[in-house]
Amino acid sequence: MPRTWPRCTRGIAVAPSLLAADFGHLAEAVRALEGSGADRLHIDVMDGDFVPNFTFGTDTLRALRTETELPFEVHLMIREPERHLATFAGAGADAMTVHWEACPHLHRTLQRIRELGCRAGGAVNVSTPVSVLYDILDSLDLALVMTVDPGFGGQSLIPRTLVKVAQLRREIDAQGAAVELEIDGGVEGHNAAECARAGATVLVAGTSVFHHPEGPAEGVRRLLGAGARGAPPTP
Ligand code: DX5
Ligand code: ZN
Repeated sequence: MPRTWPRCTRGIAVAPSLLAADFGHLAEAVRALEGSGADRLHIDVMDGDFVPNFTFGTDTLRALRTETELPFEVHLMIREPERHLATFAGAGADAMTVHWEACPHLHRTLQRIRELGCRAGGAVNVSTPVSVLYDILDSLDLALVMTVDPGFGGQSLIPRTLVKVAQLRREIDAQGAAVELEIDGGVEGHNAAECARAGATVLVAGTSVFHHPEGPAEGVRRLLGAGARGAPPTP
């Protein structure tokens, strides 16, 4: 049964990305986020085809589901994701994000995700304009703008992608859509405020959380603090 999901506001949320955790100690990595202020866990699923890397599958979700109350946000970097949605939902996904580039019928795929009781996310790669999402905002709970080329953690944020974040923010606001705007890749303490200023409301962060010298919980707190400095004041 999907867990309670945080409300969509203009505040800043941090989604730690498990990709940067120690793969030999995933349960400990997840437990280390307790009390950090993180409101979801970002789980990158890669198929070695849509992106040149392999990561987690449904067994990982099942194994971690008993370790934390955090909702699972599953980022599906796979081709033909519609074939696997029910399996991931059954394994404990609370939200599933699919790529525009991997879905010829993105609108239909998003409907299917909602039918499965999950929140529906749509992602665009670095070279894809955000305007491909404008006509389906009401089918989205979450819009994800990749700020690096997907496949690997530890890359630097590509500055030009924040222009797209600002474009999408304007469109979301113009339509009055209840859509979270998430960015993924290269988010660190020094750029979190800028990301928030561009209009992001959810910061996915792997390296800057799980490799933080003072531990993952402190990594989350630093990003929340830095992001809040760039976020608009709450009305
Ligand atoms: C990249 C993944 C990201 C990745 C981000 O393909 O989608 O979620 O974990 O990692 P960092 O924060 O290290 O760039
Ligand atoms: Zn991701």
